[in-house]
Amino acid sequence: MKDYNMKCKQFKETVFHQHLIRVLSRRNWRIETAFFIGSGSFCADWEHRYRSMWQLVMFMVAVEYLRKTNPTIQLLAQEPRYTSLDTNFLTSLNFTLPSEEGAETHQTRTSFLFAPFLDNDALLFSFLAREEGQPCLYIGNEVRAQYSRENFHERLASDAAGNLETRLKEAGEIGKRFMRKRRVFRLPEFEGHGNALNGIVVQAVFEAEEDEEDDGT
Ligand SMILES: C[S@@+](CC[C@H](N)C(=O)[O-])C[C@H]1O[C@@H](n2cnc3c(N)ncnc32)[C@H](O)[C@@H]1O
Repeated sequence: MKDYNMKCKQFKETVFHQHLIRVLSRRNWRIETAFFIGSGSFCADWEHRYRSMWQLVMFMVAVEYLRKTNPTIQLLAQEPRYTSLDTNFLTSLNFTLPSEEGAETHQTRTSFLFAPFLDNDALLFSFLAREEGQPCLYIGNEVRAQYSRENFHERLASDAAGNLETRLKEAGEIGKRFMRKRRVFRLPEFEGHGNALNGIVVQAVFEAEEDEEDDGT
């Protein structure tokens, strides 16, 4: 907890933080649920521990900003690698942890999805494929209109076997649909850690009329 609090303070002193807030402040948000997905463990090994901790800090700082317009945003975290130490730590920060995988089923159009470097198969086929609950705010790997074998880990490639081309086409369709109403904002390099946040983008619904159309369906 001491490390977490110290990193929150350090994060707010970075240029990266200034950019993040500038992007988020481009519209008024009505976020109701915020999802922190695929963080890795906070205590498994040192290198990953630091990455995961900085990712948690970024998420919590973004939520702090979003709570200005809705102080009751609910937090939910999911990661198959969490240890009991991780779950205790997250519970102390008021996260709910679903007992089984399936966080995506709780996602709605008023959700914020933060999925830092989540595997593309989970991101696309579980979280973004659900037309009825696509998050209005997403931060993570850039979602694209085209995918190739290299964008997926070996398991998907071998599971899909002869169907790989079809799966890649489906991935591109999901990506295209997701991108249709969302603008992409790139963030600068993060000064606090070499690779914990670099490359993460913000993809969000920003046009008021599109937002209304989204909410009204
Ligand atoms: C590439 S690792 C990234 C870990 C960490 N965010 C980082 O940048 O070091 C992807 C993580 O997503 C997790 N993951 C995969 N499928 C998931 C799912 N459906 N829900 C939550 N986490 C998932 C994996 O266990 C793994 O820890």
